[in-house]
Amino acid sequence: MTVLPITTVGDPVLRRRAREVSEDELASSDVQAFIDDLVQTKRAANGAGLAANQVGDLRRIAVVEVEPGNPRYPYKPPFPLTVLINPELEPLSDETFEVNEGCLSVPDLRGALSRYAAVRVRFLDRDGERSELVVRGLSAGTFQHEVDHLDGVLFLDRVTDPATFTTWEQFDRFGREEFEAQARQIVERFGA
Ligand code: NI
Repeated sequence: MTVLPITTVGDPVLRRRAREVSEDELASSDVQAFIDDLVQTKRAANGAGLAANQVGDLRRIAVVEVEPGNPRYPYKPPFPLTVLINPELEPLSDETFEVNEGCLSVPDLRGALSRYAAVRVRFLDRDGERSELVVRGLSAGTFQHEVDHLDGVLFLDRVTDPATFTTWEQFDRFGREEFEAQARQIVERFGA
């Protein structure tokens, strides 16, 4: 397994829509090895998720996993490793919450945006089995963030008030306490 370099905002690959992976392709050793690398890279960077575009690849593959005690996102509820091939998202209602996000491809910047409170995700797992999950709250936000990547969308595009942009250092100084209280309310209200 290899830890791949993560590309950053400005690289056109982050603005392109990743293409569907066929079932035959998914079974190939090439794609299976790529999935392992994506997981390894996400873990090495302490991410909550990682999409193929972020390592310069345009196959429609993303991974989500929040390990307990994740140092980058300590307020996110743990979420088991989920490999998403050709994921599609459907909001379960119009309900949204405001959340502060960061991204491994947008170094040292965070901002506030809205995410759907609950979404259904349909995808193939790495064995090619059709799968479906309903995810809520902060976990729903993570899935929306990763599927956005596969559509060439960054969280930056969804920040409605540019005054909420902050470096991680200033977030720690001025924003973290209030946001973590807000994050606990999101978990209480919507679950994880
Ligand atoms: Ni991201």
